[in-house]
Amino acid sequence: MKRILIFTATIALLVMGFVALNVDLSPEVAHAQTNPPAQIKMPEVIVLAQDAKLGKVTFNHVKHNGGEYSADGAGPIACIGCHHAAQPVSELAKFPPLKTAWPADRTTTLTAELFNKDPKAAAVAACRDCHARVGQVPKLMPEIPVVKEPGTTTLLKMTNQMAFHKACDVCHFEVKIQRPDSKTPNATQCNSCHKRT
Ligand code: HEC
Ligand code: HEC
Ligand code: HEC
Ligand code: HEC
Repeated sequence: MKRILIFTATIALLVMGFVALNVDLSPEVAHAQTNPPAQIKMPEVIVLAQDAKLGKVTFNHVKHNGGEYSADGAGPIACIGCHHAAQPVSELAKFPPLKTAWPADRTTTLTAELFNKDPKAAAVAACRDCHARVGQVPKLMPEIPVVKEPGTTTLLKMTNQMAFHKACDVCHFEVKIQRPDSKTPNATQCNSCHKRT
């Protein structure tokens, strides 16, 4: 019990440290950033869908991964809940249809702790580097990934639209069932995410 508490407290401190790194530019942080090699920063708020006709999507990365939002009320959302390729192939084997690691030979699983220790070694690729827009060739793969829906013969081309919608909607749907009053976006209400400015 005590060990679990210590562990939880450590994680909480790490997460807090990691939020603070993004929020306030304390002198230490400012100093670190002027030192080479260039610091990879944890994005706090990311504007997605920049080219979508329906409008841009403002995604609060830190609220989603720093503990403020949670899928089941049991702690922060794991990095690999979204950054699925950032774990070793041996781990991925437990979560079919996932199987692709990036980099292919990686031995680490992305966590806040790993990222804070060495952001470069944590090796986070952007979703769109693999899930490109329709008609575009992704940066890190020969083509846009295709997945077979479990129990069917349907092949789904995981464009940016498919990949993001699936990654975001599944969780929001579950949260809404558990907490009908939550402010999670509704998958069928496009403008709960896409906003024209
Ligand atoms: C709820 C989903 C989600 C969670 C959880 C999440 N991220 Fe992200 N993260 C994203 C999205 C979406 C992007 C933007 C990717 C893009 O532009 O294609 C991103 C971008 C990043 C980037 C910048 C990558 C780049 O090159 O542009 C880093 C670094 C990062 N995340 C680290 C983390 C770490 C570390 C954690 C866990 C502490 C984490 N993320 C948890 C969704 C998530
Ligand atoms: C290095 C390339 C790469 C990156 C980076 C990547 N993906 Fe994927 N993604 C894939 C591949 C390849 C698949 C097909 C399954 C496999 O091979 O692991 C996939 C499958 C998926 C699926 C379908 C899973 C299922 O159960 O049907 C979703 C959803 C998804 N990715 C979302 C994301 C999101 C969101 C991000 C960024 C936070 C992201 N991916 C980053 C390559 C990538
Ligand atoms: C594992 C669960 C999970 C995933 C994955 C997830 N979210 Fe959320 N999201 C939440 C929760 C929980 C809330 C907040 C609910 C509350 O506080 O009532 C939320 C709220 C939001 C909100 C409204 C509040 C705000 O911060 O503006 C937006 C917009 C949003 N999410 C966008 C996204 C996008 C875009 C993605 C995919 C890249 C995503 N989410 C992935 C759990 C998730
Ligand atoms: C949970 C938030 C969310 C909801 C709800 C949502 N989207 Fe999206 N949508 C996204 C994100 C995130 C992307 C991909 C962003 C990127 O590639 O940068 C996206 C991408 C798209 C794209 C591809 C844009 C492009 O040209 O690259 C289309 C089209 C789209 N959405 C349509 C819809 C429609 C139609 C609905 C309603 C039925 C909807 N979306 C609901 C978050 C959402």
